[in-house]
Amino acid sequence: MVVLILARTVREAVSTMDFAGDEPHAEAGSRGPKTTWRNPDATLMMRGMARTFEDLVAEADSVSVEGWDFSWLDGRATEERPSWGYQRLISERLASVSAALDVQTGGGEVLAGVTRFPPTMAATESWPPNLTKATKLLHPRGVVVVANQGAPPLPFGDEAFDLVTSRHPAEVWWDEIARVLRPGGTYLAQHVGPASVFELTEHFLGPRPEARRKRHPDDERAEAEAAGLEVVDQRWERLRTEFFDIGAVVYFLRKVIWIVPGFSVDRHRDRLRELHERIERDGSFVAHSSRVLVEARKPA
Ligand SMILES: C[S@@+](CC[C@H](N)C(=O)[O-])C[C@H]1O[C@@H](n2cnc3c(N)ncnc32)[C@H](O)[C@@H]1O
Repeated sequence: MVVLILARTVREAVSTMDFAGDEPHAEAGSRGPKTTWRNPDATLMMRGMARTFEDLVAEADSVSVEGWDFSWLDGRATEERPSWGYQRLISERLASVSAALDVQTGGGEVLAGVTRFPPTMAATESWPPNLTKATKLLHPRGVVVVANQGAPPLPFGDEAFDLVTSRHPAEVWWDEIARVLRPGGTYLAQHVGPASVFELTEHFLGPRPEARRKRHPDDERAEAEAAGLEVVDQRWERLRTEFFDIGAVVYFLRKVIWIVPGFSVDRHRDRLRELHERIERDGSFVAHSSRVLVEARKPA
């Protein structure tokens, strides 16, 4: 499997963290190792570094983590983006189909970055705070946001869509995706891959070798095939993710609840303090996110 490390400017990298969307204007599609990874400038780093542990943690523990926009982390954390440019890819596909569905749209921020939608465009979301955000963002664009449960089925009839998209779904409901796709239709998605940001997980929870294979692309391929889909493209990349102060870590773990399940500042204060001291000593904490592009087709 090819693993690519790409360099991006800090602002691009931060704004596309799992962190937010893959803007179509970005260097999407460029492949292969690039030159350097640029650190934030000293001023940005000072935003976190000059403040006390208590101050940084208290602030990050009190701000809202609703929606799926990560701009709060601007200048305090970075994540390289996958080379394929997911938002550009779905923009191109959505322009050429007549009915499409975005599953687990979150706050709708990624889908809202698409320029042109097909005549029928739907999105699902189950978490109430995100549902409200996505509705506000997408309804003015003619996209219907449908509230569903966090479990199958998808609230649509069989063979309803030419294209189903999803970025970072918490779970992939392969049987349901296959059911709502028309014959010849496509599932195009960016999944979180195995052991994503595991350096952070293991800092708080200790070694978890048994969990490292979860979401492995080979397993996902088998699940897609078992649902009757044919995987026509699958790419996997590990991408450098860097936290420049402990407040950024707290915010990230409160928002991305799967990295350290059950995370709370009170429960993990000692490990947070250790990490804070490490960041002060080393300048940052480096982890690696894991991203998988998958394209699967329902036979015609
Ligand atoms: C990781 S999010 C991705 C959202 C969107 N597709 C994107 O890429 O920006 C996937 C799902 O997790 C849900 N989710 C996020 N935070 C949650 C939380 N704190 N509790 C429950 N569900 C949450 C979202 O609402 C969404 O349906």
